[in-house]
Amino acid sequence: RSVGIIGAPFSKGQSKDGVECAPNKLRAAGLLDRLQQQGCAVKDYGNLTFENVALDEPVNGSKSVRTVGSANQRLSEAVKAVKRDGHTAMILGGDHSLAIGSIHGHTAAVGPVSVVWVDAHADINTPLTSNTGNVHGQPMSYLLYELQSKLPPLPNFSWMKPCVSSRDLVYIGLRDVDPAEHYIMKLLAVKAFCMTQVDQLGMARVMEETCDYLWDRAKKPIHLSYDIDAIDPSITPATGTPAVGGLTYREGVYITEYLYQTGLLSAVDMVEVNPLRGRTEDDVRSTVSTAVDLLLGCFGRRREGNHPPDYSLP
Ligand code: ARG
Ligand code: MN
Ligand code: MN
Ligand code: MN
Repeated sequence: RSVGIIGAPFSKGQSKDGVECAPNKLRAAGLLDRLQQQGCAVKDYGNLTFENVALDEPVNGSKSVRTVGSANQRLSEAVKAVKRDGHTAMILGGDHSLAIGSIHGHTAAVGPVSVVWVDAHADINTPLTSNTGNVHGQPMSYLLYELQSKLPPLPNFSWMKPCVSSRDLVYIGLRDVDPAEHYIMKLLAVKAFCMTQVDQLGMARVMEETCDYLWDRAKKPIHLSYDIDAIDPSITPATGTPAVGGLTYREGVYITEYLYQTGLLSAVDMVEVNPLRGRTEDDVRSTVSTAVDLLLGCFGRRREGNHPPDYSLP
């Protein structure tokens, strides 16, 4: 088990300051040490640097498109390199617009992937349907083959091609979906376990059905894109677009434990942790430590306990 960590301190997919501080906050919370303690070989590739494109005027109402495009090109190359080095990739965002480069780079290295998108939001607006103009609400529309004809030409995005089939996408945790997003999801018959289904089925069945659905055609490497706002804001308030009625800590961790044990987890994004958003220090601490626990779960931490394979009693 080896993990390659990429810090992506990027925030221009939305308008609130602070989300760029998350990679260092997650490291400062002991992420690397704790990964090593649970038996992972860790290589930290450091933080990427991104340029601010001057004169980045809105395109069809969407903001900072050129800046987001060039940042994602850089991230795509970085993720591709980490995968070629043989690691499971861990991408520390940053806002969720980073999923464009992350998933693109992942597929560039390994071929088709299954995407498990854990989020309060579907992030599947096109630039033409978005009400906010924030690209962090749009990444899935850039990535899906099926929506290619619905995207206007976007400056600084000529490097990328859609690389995910809508049949290889599962959402978990949705509860704040825009009308156009809902329409798109029905049109493409995207599989989604919204909070209603989480309530109905329980997370154990949600995860079984998620994998049954994804594996119906083929077992592909899994890309987990985890937006911290999927978790209820009573636990993870330090995020830019909190939505009430979210996953419990336990449901959130169960997703990671379950996907780890499939042996197919190949890249993980942790996005939208914003250390400047909580009202108190405790708000920030709780958000950051939950994000760390979710990441540890993705890399083998079990709540029953862990011990090294070579352990022997003294
Ligand atoms: N649906 C809204 C939008 O398109 C909110 C998106 C929130 N996305 C996120 N990654 N937190 O702007
Ligand atoms: Mn979200
Ligand atoms: Mn649903
Ligand atoms: Mn999101």
